[in-house]
Amino acid sequence: MVVPNLKEAMKRSKEHGIVQTIHYKIDDNLRGIAKGKHYFIKTYGCQMNEHDSENIKGLLEELGFIPVDCMEEADFILLNTCAIRENAHNKVFGFLGRIKNLKEKRPNVIAGICGCMAQEEVVVKEILEKYNYIDLVFGTHNIHHLPKLIHEILIKQENQIEVFSKEGDIIENMPFKRDSKYKAWVNIMYGCDKFCTYCIVPYTRGKQRSRKKEDILTEVQALKENGYKEVTLLGQNVNAYGKDLEEDYYMEDLLFDVSKTGIERIRFVTSHPWDFTDKMISIIASCDNIMPYIHLPLQSGSNTILKQMGRRYTKEEYITLFHKLKEKIPNVAITTDIIVGFPNETEEDFEDTLQVVEECKYDSAFTFIFSPRIGTPASKMEDRIAKEVKEERLQRLNERINYYSKCANEVYKGKTVKVLIEGISEKDDTKVMGYTETMKLVNVKADKNTIGTIIPVKITDVKTWSMDGEAV
Ligand code: 5AD
Ligand code: SF4
Repeated sequence: MVVPNLKEAMKRSKEHGIVQTIHYKIDDNLRGIAKGKHYFIKTYGCQMNEHDSENIKGLLEELGFIPVDCMEEADFILLNTCAIRENAHNKVFGFLGRIKNLKEKRPNVIAGICGCMAQEEVVVKEILEKYNYIDLVFGTHNIHHLPKLIHEILIKQENQIEVFSKEGDIIENMPFKRDSKYKAWVNIMYGCDKFCTYCIVPYTRGKQRSRKKEDILTEVQALKENGYKEVTLLGQNVNAYGKDLEEDYYMEDLLFDVSKTGIERIRFVTSHPWDFTDKMISIIASCDNIMPYIHLPLQSGSNTILKQMGRRYTKEEYITLFHKLKEKIPNVAITTDIIVGFPNETEEDFEDTLQVVEECKYDSAFTFIFSPRIGTPASKMEDRIAKEVKEERLQRLNERINYYSKCANEVYKGKTVKVLIEGISEKDDTKVMGYTETMKLVNVKADKNTIGTIIPVKITDVKTWSMDGEAV
């Protein structure tokens, strides 16, 4: 049994040496060991977790597992968890009750937990103490050990708990079973070294490790050859790509080289305002296949709070960057993340945030109430602000965010824009759906055979969260 240790996860040092790249290959003895068995994965949280689940599905299918949509039919149930806020935690612990019931009826079902919660020392302790029906716990740093861990459970009928506190090497050549045939996530880096004071990610995902450019470009090239139209370059803080590599090769260089592959659409998330260089901006502006869409987390508009958050920019610097992006990149859409109710956020601090929203008129935003995470500096800050005050601020903020989302969409009315059609519309199955270059969801009147292609769509109506259109 290897359990996570918070103190170890907090350390950043050179003692672990330069990150190596290891090529994964399934052990031939393991191929097919779960033939005929069924698996069910439930994924919580961000795109990084979604993409990890695609990796896990790839590994499981090499073992012979077959996917099922219904948990009750599965022989192996895995929760890929998120630790970013308390409600993500609560959802997972809530779901464990359903697994317990199922295991009472079918004791041979294997139940596992992985992802960011599995990296938390307190969570694993709680699982070992109170949820002893969980058979498998593994972390974000050892996904590639999953086949071996499953094998141990199958032959020894023993629980397997293996969570490394520290990141290891970068593993290439892993199998992926991608959810879409048209757009793909591509990891460009793992971990984060920014240590914003509220954020648990640097502890659950480890230090920043950039993938080698050759590995990224080979993956994008292969995706293009397999008919993929869009790639999203993924990382906690993509603008810092390359800073940990030995050669001088940074995000702007990578964007340029990915653009040269000729894949039709390139996106990237998430950008920290601190590392946004002018060179990056000019490459985004000049390459037609780099989409004019940027997610630029603000977090707070108050300089006092930004300082306490450890964000490394002021409100003024953020606004200057925002306007530079708007000016240099034609038709760019910019979205953001905002946290309200950081410890001791005053009404004035909150009004500073509202003021930035009035100035930037975001295309859309994800807004959150601060949630203290164990181990982070902000969780130790004394906080005198009442829950009701925080909730009221969130409501006031959302009202302005929604207003500007609708305004941003209004501009599209009557215009013709390019949409990558991804599938049938969830709202209306006579329509198809997809996203504009600027990441706006459009429900489109068009033939189903447009799925998987980029087509011109005339926008006929706009709402706060989506738009309607018809193929032209
Ligand atoms: N409480 C609330 N929101 C948080 N985020 C990260 N950590 C916390 C926390 N402790 C938000 C940030 C980040 C987004 C992914 O989640 O806004 O950008
Ligand atoms: Fe968390 Fe800050 Fe890193 Fe984003 S940049 S993952 S908010 S520590």
